[in-house]
Amino acid sequence: MRKPTVNLKVFADRRRQVGQQIPGAALIVAAHPEHIRNHDVHFPYRQDSNFYYLTAFEEPESVLVLRPGRQPETVMFVRRRDRERETWDGFRYGPEGVEREFGIEKVYPIDEFDKILPTLLREVDGVHYRLGKNPAMDQRVLAGMEATRNMQGRTGKGLLPIMDADELLGEARLIKSEAELADQREACEISAQAHLAAMKFTKPGVTERQVQGVLAYNFLMKGSAREGYNYIVASGDAATTLHYNFNDQPCRNGDLLLIDAGAEYNYYTGDITRTFPVNGKFTDEQARVYEGVLNVQKQIIDFVKPGVVFRELHEMGASLLTDLMLELGFLSGRKDDVIGANKHRKYYPHGIGHWLGMDVHDAGLYMKKGEPRPLEPNMCFTVEPGLYIPADDESVPKNYRGIGVRIEDNVRVTSNGCENMTSTVPKEMADLEKIIGTGWEPTRLG
Ligand code: GLY
Ligand code: MN
Ligand code: MN
Repeated sequence: MRKPTVNLKVFADRRRQVGQQIPGAALIVAAHPEHIRNHDVHFPYRQDSNFYYLTAFEEPESVLVLRPGRQPETVMFVRRRDRERETWDGFRYGPEGVEREFGIEKVYPIDEFDKILPTLLREVDGVHYRLGKNPAMDQRVLAGMEATRNMQGRTGKGLLPIMDADELLGEARLIKSEAELADQREACEISAQAHLAAMKFTKPGVTERQVQGVLAYNFLMKGSAREGYNYIVASGDAATTLHYNFNDQPCRNGDLLLIDAGAEYNYYTGDITRTFPVNGKFTDEQARVYEGVLNVQKQIIDFVKPGVVFRELHEMGASLLTDLMLELGFLSGRKDDVIGANKHRKYYPHGIGHWLGMDVHDAGLYMKKGEPRPLEPNMCFTVEPGLYIPADDESVPKNYRGIGVRIEDNVRVTSNGCENMTSTVPKEMADLEKIIGTGWEPTRLG
C-alpha cells in the first residue's frame, strides 16, 4: 500500500486559505490529462501544478471540487481501483483510499462526476474553473452547470458565472510560504550542484548529450523526480538559439557552452543558466561579452527589494545591456533612440526574468489593476540577462559572431533585498576557469 509522503497539513491549509478568498462560490480543479502514444505507450505523467498544490494527489482522471462553508467542503472524484489496470499501470488509491489517506471529506469514483456535480453546485453562487486546459473536462463542467440550472426549475436562476481559477491560484502560489521555500531552495540547490558537476565534466570532445546526462544523473541522484523544463545544452553558435534543445553536437575547443537546466523537487523547479568556455579559458571577445552580461546581472540582483516594480527590472536590463552593446560597438547611436526603436532586441530578445515556483514560468499576475505590481517578500523569480550575436551577423567584428551568453539565477525577495538561491554554482570568470574540465565521476554507491 502506497502512502502520501508529504505533509498533508500544508495542503489542507492551502485549501482553507484559497476557500477564504471565494466565499459562497465553488472551485473546480482537474488533474492533468493523460497522454497516451501509439495506443498504449504512456508518457511520463506529471500532475497539474494547481491540482497538486491543493491535493498532493498525483493520479490522472481526478477532479477536486472545493465548496467553502458547505458540507462536505472538499470533494474529490478519482479513478476506481481496478485489479487488471493496476497490474499494468500501477497502484491506484481509489475513492476510499483517497478519503482515508489524503484528508478529503468525500471522494466519489470519477465515473459519477457528471451525475453528482450538478447537486454539488446547487447551493453555490459562482464557479472558479480554468476553461481551455482540458477540453473534455470543460465539456463536463459546463454540462454540469447547465444541469444545475435546469434543476432550479422556475426560480429564474441563470447559469452560474465562471471565474478563472488560474488567477485565484496563481496569486496564492506567488507568495511562497516557509514550507514552499524549503522545496524551492532544495530544487535550486540540486540544480546548482548538477551545473557544477557539468562544468567539471566539460572538455573539448564531450557531447552536449553527455553533458545533459551528467545533469540528469545529478538531478535524479539528489532526489529530483524530473527536470523542470527541457534541457538546453547549447555549444558554439547554438547558444544564440534561445530554446535550443537538439543537444546532439560535440562541444568544440574554443567555443562557449550555454547550459539552461533546472531540477524539479517536490513539484518546485530551479531554473539556472551558466555559460562557460568548453576548454576552460575565455577568449578576449568571449570575456568581454561575459563580463558585461555578468555585471548587468549583478546590478539587477542588487537592485531587488520589496516595492521595486518588476517592470523596472525589465527596463534596467534593457538599458544596461544596451550600454554594453554600444560599448562593444554592436550598435551605434543614442541609447534612448536605440531602445525606442527596439534595436537592442536584435541581440537581447527576451525579458529579464519570470516568476518561479511549481512551474518554471510560474503562475501569478505581473500587473494588478492595470499597473505593474511592486515586489513583495517571498516572491521568487529569475534574473537572466543575455546577449546573443548571430553567427551570420556581418555588422559585428568576426570574433564576436556566434557568441551567446546568458547568466540566470533564482532569487527570493526578502524584507530588504533578496536571497540568491542559486549562488552555489560559480559565475565569476576566474572561478569558472579553475573548475571547468577538472573531471567529474558518478558517485560510487555501496
Ligand atoms: N529555462 C526557461 C527560461 O529560462 O525561461
Ligand atoms: Mn532558464
Ligand atoms: Mn528562466
